[in-house]
Amino acid sequence: MSWDNAEYERVLGTRRFGREVVFLEEVDSTNRWLLENEGRFYLAGATVVANHQTVGRGRRGRRWQDVAGKSLLFSVLLRPDKDSAPLGFLPLISGVAVAESICRLCACSAERLRLKWPNDILVDGCKVGGILAESVSMGERVCVVVGIGINLTQTEEELPRDTRQAISSLHLLSLQPSSRESLLAKILEELEGLYDLFRESRVDEMKRRWSSFAQSRGTAVAVETDSGVARGSYEGIGDQGQLILRDQSSVTRELYSGEILSEARNG
Ligand code: BTN
Repeated sequence: MSWDNAEYERVLGTRRFGREVVFLEEVDSTNRWLLENEGRFYLAGATVVANHQTVGRGRRGRRWQDVAGKSLLFSVLLRPDKDSAPLGFLPLISGVAVAESICRLCACSAERLRLKWPNDILVDGCKVGGILAESVSMGERVCVVVGIGINLTQTEEELPRDTRQAISSLHLLSLQPSSRESLLAKILEELEGLYDLFRESRVDEMKRRWSSFAQSRGTAVAVETDSGVARGSYEGIGDQGQLILRDQSSVTRELYSGEILSEARNG
């Protein structure tokens, strides 16, 4: 499957996001490529899309695997200024953009979609997409690359095995965006609007949008952190985008990085 740029331009409804776009047939990682080439781009939301990544980067040092032509793999360049909301919101709003786009383009009910903190995209409990935000500081300014991978048409055999989390593709879950180009265009459109909220530091609105796809409060969670596994009930996200947990002694803990391992309803 190659990239149809005419179709992409026809459906793209953004002001700036994705207006500068590069399509690469094969690259090691779109995140690595964009971080190294950021100086070539002028507009916020410059985007690089790949048909295949040979060394796709995942969260927590893992690899993100794909089969050529069967995923949507892209990275978006953002240059937030100092007055914007905390950077922790960038991967969160990106997850919202993906979730809302899948709902709209694939006629998928919002109940089937879940964002697992910080930014796994789940459909019917299976991970179909992931997000990795990476940044470089350049003196006063910071440049953030948000990389998004979505499994589109893989069969069971073509998906990586993961003992921690069931993995699937939109196709296996009977969800079919009309094209890879239209899904990318829709995500960029949603992200552009959410990035306006981020720039205006509208933290409550971003939290509300993210929480509409999150597990309900009171859900028991186990979170793998750099210093071990933290357990407690999910109490929402804070003003930096951090996860708020309440342990059995009702002590509140705030986690800024980590990964939710499991969920079980309390009570
Ligand atoms: C995760 O581990 O859940 C995050 C996966 C992020 C994968 C995407 S694919 C496009 C972009 N380029 C990369 O190398 N990684 C991200």
